[in-house]
Amino acid sequence: MDYKNKIIYQIWPRSFQDSNHDGIGDLKGILRRLDHLQDLGVDLIWLSPVYCSPNTDFGYDISDYYNIHPDFGTMADFDALLAECKKRGMGIVMDLVANHTSDQHPWFQACLNDPNSPYRDCYYFREGVNDKEPNNWISMFGGSAWTKDPLKPHSWYLTTFTPHQCDLNWENPRVREEIANVMRFWLDKGVSGFRMDVINTIAKQPGLPSWHPEKKGYQFAKEFMTNLPQSHAYIQELIGKLADDYDFITIGEGMMADNDACALYAGEQRGELNMMIVFDLHLQDCGPLGKYDFRKLYHWTIPGFKSIIFRWQTDSQKRNYWVANYMNNHDQPRSISRFGNDRQYRVESAKAFALMNLTLRGTPLVYQGEEIGMTNCHLEQDEWRDYEAINIYDTLQTMMHLPKVIARKIVQRMTRDHARTPVQWDDSEYAGFSDHQPWIKVNPNYKQINLKSDLVSETSINRWYKQVIALRKAYSAFNTGAMKPVLVHHKQILAYQRSDEQAEFLILINLSGSPARFDLKTEGRVLMDSYADPQPRLLRPYEARLIQIR
Ligand code: NOJ
Ligand code: CA
Repeated sequence: MDYKNKIIYQIWPRSFQDSNHDGIGDLKGILRRLDHLQDLGVDLIWLSPVYCSPNTDFGYDISDYYNIHPDFGTMADFDALLAECKKRGMGIVMDLVANHTSDQHPWFQACLNDPNSPYRDCYYFREGVNDKEPNNWISMFGGSAWTKDPLKPHSWYLTTFTPHQCDLNWENPRVREEIANVMRFWLDKGVSGFRMDVINTIAKQPGLPSWHPEKKGYQFAKEFMTNLPQSHAYIQELIGKLADDYDFITIGEGMMADNDACALYAGEQRGELNMMIVFDLHLQDCGPLGKYDFRKLYHWTIPGFKSIIFRWQTDSQKRNYWVANYMNNHDQPRSISRFGNDRQYRVESAKAFALMNLTLRGTPLVYQGEEIGMTNCHLEQDEWRDYEAINIYDTLQTMMHLPKVIARKIVQRMTRDHARTPVQWDDSEYAGFSDHQPWIKVNPNYKQINLKSDLVSETSINRWYKQVIALRKAYSAFNTGAMKPVLVHHKQILAYQRSDEQAEFLILINLSGSPARFDLKTEGRVLMDSYADPQPRLLRPYEARLIQIR
């Protein structure tokens, strides 16, 4: 399957569209909105997990890989959705969470019912030292990465995300075979592929040693949990088992995967994955300890932003690997609130990031709501729904001794809940998402920001997305064409060329809220501009321009 020319739209089902009046998005709701996606030019829908799950991490803790969570509907609803997608020439990409299962998964339940269960070797059960955890690794969501085994006194199991997500031991062939079985099951149904959750953490450092044991407290054991050489062998084996029988696309998610790691995971001749989702752009305003690192105020800068883009673009081109580009997903605050201006220049910044995301080298991922310029949403503490937010708030106080007010502010700035408020379809109560009080707050700005009003607006964001997507499909220069950075040292403007034998384009984006002058002889035809009256050698705040040079 050609993975380079696809437009992939991510749905986080709980917040997309409710169909049965319970305030929770579901599969039948998605079905109702397929025309919108087809109209936009979407090829593949990446569905965040819809499997059975106790929802400690909203679906990323799977208890049954072969069934649909009742909140989302039934397997018959899934089959109907897939069939309707196919009718429209679209496909579905499943989210495959293979680093861990829920503690409610039958394998893990077997471990808890029997201290000698063979399934104990499918996870990491280890003896602790002097009543302490087996090592000093910190969990991604704060606190120890180990959870106490209720069956055996000094025993613990590894949970590198929430304590209810138990890390699978990929050294065990039974684990590797079962993940292949899960993939076969969904491929037999006709899905188009998988987005593979934290796939670069499936191998752990043999022996699970402590990270810098001389340091006090839990430590972030980056090099013992990510990008280990063995992860490549596991992925090659997995893909090798399926590649002859199925034609499918693979999108790896790589927390802390750098260029070297991605050159391996997504290198064209490696027999691993088609592309990697990388994090650098979204870590710019974070400290070394991640999103909630508060030790000082970290800021992003335009030169920093540009250098990350150009490094990934030129390196992936040079070393022939492929990335998935995105400005939003369910794990990040909304990008126009973070990197743009969600008030005065909301429409302009939405268009700027859209043009960038859809014309860079790599496959674009579009996240629900960005096509209408959705923004962050202020949430009071009792409105938080995400485990990460709630747990980090506690960790900041207990481990880091931060006062409550500051801990609250830090969480409110970065919480994943910003991206998880319901999609704003119209200006009716609950934004057309549901007619019942939704499971999470609706952003109060839905009266102004919603698809219905965007569609009739003269400056429609949705229409802008459609236009760029149509151009991307019409010209291979945007897919397989060469990428060349331009105006590299300009302090406000991100600029680059995309070209092949057929055509050549120049993309100019003002990433700042002030006018930006530039000195380039840009002969050519302006195909798109986010301002009505493009001016030569000048871009106004967040102005985005696409020029066809030949
Ligand atoms: C990455 C997913 O995108 C995120 O939502 C989840 O919490 C972690 N992986 C753990 O599965
Ligand atoms: Ca529902």
